[in-house]
Amino acid sequence: MSARKIPLLEADVLVLFGATGDLAKKKLFPALYSMSMNDSLQCPVVGVASTKWNHEEFAAHAFDAIKAAFPDPDAKMLAKLDDELSLVVGNYEDPKLYEDLAEVLKDKQSPVIYLAIPPAFFGNVTQGLAKVGLTERSRLVVEKPFGRDLHSAIALQEVLEEVLPEERIFRIDHYLGKESVEDILIFRFANSIWEPLWNHRYINSVQITMAEDFGVEGRGAFYDGVGAIRDVLQNHLLQVLALIAMEPPSDLSSSTMEDEKLKVFRAIAALKPENVIRGQYVGYLDEAGVAPRSTTETYAAATMYVDNWRWSGVPFYLRTGKNLAETTLEVVIEFKQPPRLLFAESQEGSANLLRFRLGKNDGVDIELQAKSPGDSLTTESVKLTVNFSAALGDRQEAYERLLRAAMAGDHKRFTAIDSVLETWRIVEGIINNEPHLSPYFKGTWGPERADELPERGWLEL
Ligand code: BG6
Repeated sequence: MSARKIPLLEADVLVLFGATGDLAKKKLFPALYSMSMNDSLQCPVVGVASTKWNHEEFAAHAFDAIKAAFPDPDAKMLAKLDDELSLVVGNYEDPKLYEDLAEVLKDKQSPVIYLAIPPAFFGNVTQGLAKVGLTERSRLVVEKPFGRDLHSAIALQEVLEEVLPEERIFRIDHYLGKESVEDILIFRFANSIWEPLWNHRYINSVQITMAEDFGVEGRGAFYDGVGAIRDVLQNHLLQVLALIAMEPPSDLSSSTMEDEKLKVFRAIAALKPENVIRGQYVGYLDEAGVAPRSTTETYAAATMYVDNWRWSGVPFYLRTGKNLAETTLEVVIEFKQPPRLLFAESQEGSANLLRFRLGKNDGVDIELQAKSPGDSLTTESVKLTVNFSAALGDRQEAYERLLRAAMAGDHKRFTAIDSVLETWRIVEGIINNEPHLSPYFKGTWGPERADELPERGWLEL
């Protein structure tokens, strides 16, 4: 049983650093609107930004962001949100900003402070909050990536833990807020038919793809200092891998779940340059904010093994990239061929596949062999498909669920420090000893070399 902890109080104010930035616009304001609509936003929202806007300009910005996500928003709800919103303006390096914020929050017992700002500011902002005493009663939500590598993640953690206990730090990996990603747990552990097959005896390989058919979209300056490995592979893809590979947890508490994921990460060896393919799309160097001779990768693919009894010898192939052929997020489980191919002519190379579609229109596909029509005993592949939103109704947005969880003090959908450090250990050898960079054209599936990474190529259903 996990040790007892005193539950955190429900938040009585939400503070958004980076309130005029990209993340707030695309994700956080729409999430706040949804929360107002379902009555789960019960406290004021204080934006913090360096842009010198007055209340009207700030509210107009927030409403534009909401209208981009919900074209016909409820006017009463916008008026209510307008009453809840306020903005504190100042430079993140200026002590006065923190004094002003402390004054605004002086009657609040349990603020949730969300750092939707570039990671380079996390340390300084935390120290600024500590100097005015705000870290004594607040919880802090930090965006990914947490650090730039193992060393800087440890250093950042030291800054945070000097002023905040771990239970008041919430590290975001928004994939853990996706219902589709959480469904991997339900699929595996609420259905008994999979467990006997979920191991190296029946599974040949696991492929995890997060592809986007667009580029850096105005985030060149941020992205160029990060790249595909730090932006997606170290966090989103490894978190998905952990949910596929972990043992059944004994309960659903955040500490038990974390323990099981940690065991998976610990069983993965540090990647070496020869396990990885890095690519950069042609035209990346012309993007605004990108250094003229940048060697930042916009594509990364890697082979890794979870070296334990369940997964011994099963390759996990991970890939992610910008400006690829399509936008998709999926996991394909490739089962082994039957031991004897009775219908060999047509059956060769058509093992059963199970595909988790985790992006838009999420669901599951299973590829089976069926008898082809006619006299002969030959097979053809058929697909069983379920679309979860059609079957079950609409999913909630990840950021809405994460904001709600942070405000309720629930750690389940956040990453704990041990996992974050383990995942940095896994990629350490390829970010500080960068493998060769191959160019690829926009609209393709990345560098040609990457096609050969999985033995049977990247599988499509
Ligand atoms: C973010 C990355 O964490 O995830 C972006 O920084 C990426 O580069 C985004 O586009 C993808 O998120 P989603 O939810 O659209 O798959």
